Amino acid sequence: MSATSTSVTANDIEEAYQKIQSSVRKTPLLRSENFERRIGAKFPIYFKVESLQYTGSFKSRGALNKLLSLSEASKKKGVITASAGNHAQGVAYHSQRLGIDAKIVMPLATPLIKIKSTKQWGAEVILFGESYQEAHERALEIQKSEGREYIHAFDDAFIIAGQGTIAKEVYDECKEIELFIAPMGGGGLLAGCGTYFKEKNSKIKMVAVQADGCSNFLPSLKAGKPVTLTTSNTIAEGIAVKRMGDMTFEICRKWITETVLVSDEETAVGLLWLLENERLFVEGCGGAAVAAVLKKPELITGPTVILLSGGNLDVNLLARIIERGLAQAGRLARFELTIPDAPGTLYKILGTIAEERASIIHVSHERIFGKTTLREVQARFILETHGLDHNERVKAALKKQGWEIRFL
Ligand SMILES: Cc1ncc(COP(=O)(O)O)c(C=O)c1O
Repeated sequence: MSATSTSVTANDIEEAYQKIQSSVRKTPLLRSENFERRIGAKFPIYFKVESLQYTGSFKSRGALNKLLSLSEASKKKGVITASAGNHAQGVAYHSQRLGIDAKIVMPLATPLIKIKSTKQWGAEVILFGESYQEAHERALEIQKSEGREYIHAFDDAFIIAGQGTIAKEVYDECKEIELFIAPMGGGGLLAGCGTYFKEKNSKIKMVAVQADGCSNFLPSLKAGKPVTLTTSNTIAEGIAVKRMGDMTFEICRKWITETVLVSDEETAVGLLWLLENERLFVEGCGGAAVAAVLKKPELITGPTVILLSGGNLDVNLLARIIERGLAQAGRLARFELTIPDAPGTLYKILGTIAEERASIIHVSHERIFGKTTLREVQARFILETHGLDHNERVKAALKKQGWEIRFL
């Protein structure tokens, strides 16, 4: 394989594995009977936990494979890349280990944890642009003016082969695999894994998971070439890529059997499920892959591996994701009702809620601006409950007392 290669084979991936294996972690493949029960699966489901990879995502595999392919002269000149975070950390970490100077352009909205970690590995970080695309264009300008080697985040044969080493590890450990589910942004990950799996066993199916706010693959399939989205809106910033690569598109269109789109709310539920049930901490991309199966359990038609691709999640965002996930699962319930403006009314309602053992998080009592008569007030409640059934029990208990509530 050379720097200008436009295709990758399972053999290239085996070679990449030989080169990088001593400097990347062989991440665990964990069977989750919990998850099988949760979705009523008849087949084993495994999580490949790349969130435990060095630098917190699989991206350090491809980055290392690419850096090792550079000539000594290129290594001396240094490298440049653009990344929304995880590729940046992979490039920064391995560049420092190999003594290569690295500059990284990151979009302005990159989470703080990813900026801090990238700087921590000694790379120079340049914050630029609203999206990965704008950062990428700026990085290309710097490449031209400084003569550095550009390390593409996905559209490069060495990067694709590096990411494909995940599939090799999975296949070595689990020959029974029939389905692989992973998040897709630029397509390097699924291009590499698809190439490996399909060469080993053409029956293995590949499912790509994308955010509904940044679905670049389906429109590209329709157009027959990568299209550029005008917007990208998702909490899974690793897959917030407006345009797939040319090479990754050509490979992915051959191997991907199905694409599932998930919303941010669904992703939050997936992430929360992993946290609560498997004690696994992942970022939006990992939550998205789990969310896809929660949304479409019928995907599981044989032994399955779900890739938890990364774990670099800002704790501020985590707090919001947990709240969204709880709300989506009905475990945080919000409702309003109109009550007479008379002493003791609110007290009685609170008593009924307490008898149903729901926990009150917030109560507001609107006398002035609500759409009620002068003798009424609008009360709003936020409750912590066990879920949708519990909410219905609270509603029924209040109805028994004559209160009609509206969930918001
Ligand atoms: C955690 C995580 N998962 C999935 C992806 C998607 O990988 P690709 O762009 O190769 O499709 C990325 C990309 O940055 C990522 O960081």
